[in-house]
Amino acid sequence: MSIERTDIHDQGRPAYRAIADALERSIGAGDFAPGERLPPVRDMAKKLGVTVGTVNRAYVLAQSRGLLTGEVGRGTFVLKRPDRQSRIRLAGENSANAADLVVNQPPVVLSDAEAADTAARALATGGAALLGRYPPTSGLPEHRAALAAWVARIGLTAQPDQILLTAGVHSALAVTALACLRPGDTVLIDQLTYPGARDLLGALKFRVEPVATDEHGLMPDSVETAVRVFGARALFTCPTLQNPTAITMPDERRQQIAEVVERNDLLLVEDDIYGHLPQTRPIPFAARLPKHAILVSGMSKCLAPGLRLGYIVAPPERVGAITTALHDLLVAASPLPAALFTWWLNEGFADEILARIRRQIALRREIAGSVLGAAPPEGSLHQWLPLPSSWTAERLVEEAARIGVHLPRSDVFAVGRTPPPKAVRLALGSIADEEHLRMALRRLRGLLDQSPPRAAPVI
Ligand SMILES: Cc1ncc(COP(=O)(O)O)c(C=O)c1O
Repeated sequence: MSIERTDIHDQGRPAYRAIADALERSIGAGDFAPGERLPPVRDMAKKLGVTVGTVNRAYVLAQSRGLLTGEVGRGTFVLKRPDRQSRIRLAGENSANAADLVVNQPPVVLSDAEAADTAARALATGGAALLGRYPPTSGLPEHRAALAAWVARIGLTAQPDQILLTAGVHSALAVTALACLRPGDTVLIDQLTYPGARDLLGALKFRVEPVATDEHGLMPDSVETAVRVFGARALFTCPTLQNPTAITMPDERRQQIAEVVERNDLLLVEDDIYGHLPQTRPIPFAARLPKHAILVSGMSKCLAPGLRLGYIVAPPERVGAITTALHDLLVAASPLPAALFTWWLNEGFADEILARIRRQIALRREIAGSVLGAAPPEGSLHQWLPLPSSWTAERLVEEAARIGVHLPRSDVFAVGRTPPPKAVRLALGSIADEEHLRMALRRLRGLLDQSPPRAAPVI
């Protein structure tokens, strides 16, 4: 299969984009197999009746979307079949020397020896029963108690039986939504948001509607209006180091939002995934709104994403319904990550890992500040970088990919009709060492200091 002229004409957008979109559709539909070589640029250009430059640009754009790999001109190959998430994830996996500013994860701070040693010790007592028995749906009591101690650090007092273990925030959010909302309900969400949450809620057939934000996060009036207009029953937000904007909603704004939530009897689902990273932060909504807020979080950013350990902190009256939904979806999260976490916490090793990650974040913020002249807020793994007027995000992502610096498309963060932002998100944690990060940011800076290359003329 290949792309036909009819796929790219009369689409009201530049030909190179139409070609990249057609490629994305074809690859998504499985028309191109992973690893398949794409036709040479010249052949494709002839077939489609466009210039070689247009096809080159289309291939580069498709590369930046994580669809293709290889060097344009020398052979371009189809990557794994894309889905919504791979569009943002795979972009960093394109080539061995590509600089990945795409995946928002902390640097690896554990050694193999530490991983092996602590895992062995965590399982040394009770490991056989842990593996040999189904765990209780909500998690083992000692693991829930460890999590209660963990959330106390962010100013949230919760009893262990208000805490349920999950396999990361995604399953925590799915379980919460299934337990607390009805099919077709509308969930409000920041107009720029973590795409995984928006897509998950959509996949579960909830309606997702955007709420306007300013430099402090969600705007109370906009929430109020959206509740009226859409009849929304829930609000999902990440108020501490929001993804992608890295905004932390200040106390005063949290109070205003809390009042709107109570007045409208909304369910507020608070994603606190970045909440353990900053040295200081406002207390979570769950501490202000003990009846209306559910906190979902996990260890992916503050300890180890491979742990796939998440949790829900729920008001006591919601725990029964959430437990049922958790059983329906997962039976129970694996107790192995929780056992490792509990051991880490009790032995003080969780603090050591967190301290290492914080040190890395501090170093990387400094690098961003010195190279780009702007740094993310304290404790943030990601930076939201506004662009000079000459650049659009789409153009920058595309040109950066051309020089081996991979960024996620900014439009993936936009909800509904929200226009694509004129900023890009830089995930500063994925590149293994600081010197490579500095080099990648310098290349990006080099681009930003120029105007975008002229697009090929369109007649
Ligand atoms: C706001 C937000 N929530 C959740 C996640 C993913 O969480 P988990 O790895 O626990 O599923 C991310 C990852 O980037 C995120 O930014």
